[in-house]
Amino acid sequence: MRLRPFGRSPVNVSDIGFGAWQIGGAWGDVSAEDAKAALNAALDSGMTFIDTADVYGDGRSEKFIAEVLKARGRPRPIVATKAGRRLNPHTVEGYNRKNLEGFIDRSLKNLAVDSLDLVQLHCPPVEALYRPELFAVLDDIRKSGKIKAYGVSVEKVEEALKAIEFPNVVSIQIIYNIFRQRPADLFFREAQRRKVAVIVRVPLASGLLSGKITAESRFAPDDHRTFNRHGEAFDVGETFAGVPFEAGLQAVEELRKLVPAGATMAQFALRWILMNEAVTVVIPGARNAEQARANAAASDLAPITAETLVAAREIYDRLIAKHVHQRW
Ligand SMILES: NC(=O)c1ccc[n+]([C@@H]2O[C@H](COP(=O)([O-])OP(=O)(O)OC[C@H]3O[C@@H](n4cnc5c(N)ncnc54)[C@H](OP(=O)(O)O)[C@@H]3O)[C@@H](O)[C@H]2O)c1
Repeated sequence: MRLRPFGRSPVNVSDIGFGAWQIGGAWGDVSAEDAKAALNAALDSGMTFIDTADVYGDGRSEKFIAEVLKARGRPRPIVATKAGRRLNPHTVEGYNRKNLEGFIDRSLKNLAVDSLDLVQLHCPPVEALYRPELFAVLDDIRKSGKIKAYGVSVEKVEEALKAIEFPNVVSIQIIYNIFRQRPADLFFREAQRRKVAVIVRVPLASGLLSGKITAESRFAPDDHRTFNRHGEAFDVGETFAGVPFEAGLQAVEELRKLVPAGATMAQFALRWILMNEAVTVVIPGARNAEQARANAAASDLAPITAETLVAAREIYDRLIAKHVHQRW
């Protein structure tokens, strides 16, 4: 497992981390046994970064993390959680001191710690990024010791560029994968210039880029790949990276030919992301131990050749860009 520096902080983290949405909810049935086995496999494989949120299974994900980490003892990985999505309605007015402190207190309890390593605003309304007073509240909470650092999870490149204008934003979480290439155009350069950590989510386009999904695949009713395919519950970009299902499948068939011997398509997709040095950590979601172990192994794959990178870009330009490029 390779390590990368986490932005301005003195900490290094594994370049592949663990996305803990699956062990919370919204991905069909994931048993407690599988959830804990996935986490343990991730940590045994050298992952030192976990991404969760207070809303993943309404605290289920955070509580599994607390349980597993307690049983394992030291050293502890970095655990990043998120706040804001418990607001209903999800409005900028809700991002106030009282609510944020309440969300953070609840995550402290769920994660069974005195201080959160990293709290990310959870894709807040864009107006939140125009309220310096909100970031002043986060500075106060940080001074109180309840959080060690804060960052922002965003939908769009423009939101990322705006968020890093706040000097104490240490990290940005954004979608970047073979089907979502625009962050590399400008945002990554700016993040590197300011030494802001880049956390890459949805690296497998919700599983599409694993190559195992077909036109016949069916998902459980409580899996967002059923209930959010057209953005019914949250931003459609979070489901299959916002790529129309059929277009995604067509591109996957072409990408299949580029996968190097000895790697799975999922591992190829993760290694493709790591080819960009602006990326700090990639956080594929895993629903079981086998997926977590396979994802960890992507860190050690040989670099992807320049020729293959060009071929992957050509597939994106021809089949995918028109659906997503200017949108996020
Ligand atoms: N707004 C936000 O801040 C936000 C939004 C979305 C995600 N996230 C974070 O980002 C993480 C990653 O994104 P994501 O989970 O949405 O999407 P993802 O990582 O692109 O896709 C995860 C899915 O890919 C499949 N998969 C994973 N590893 C595999 C392997 N080794 N081989 C074959 N298939 C594999 C699994 O599908 P099956 O379930 O079909 O097996 C899994 O559920 C989340 O867990 C969460 O921590 C944050």
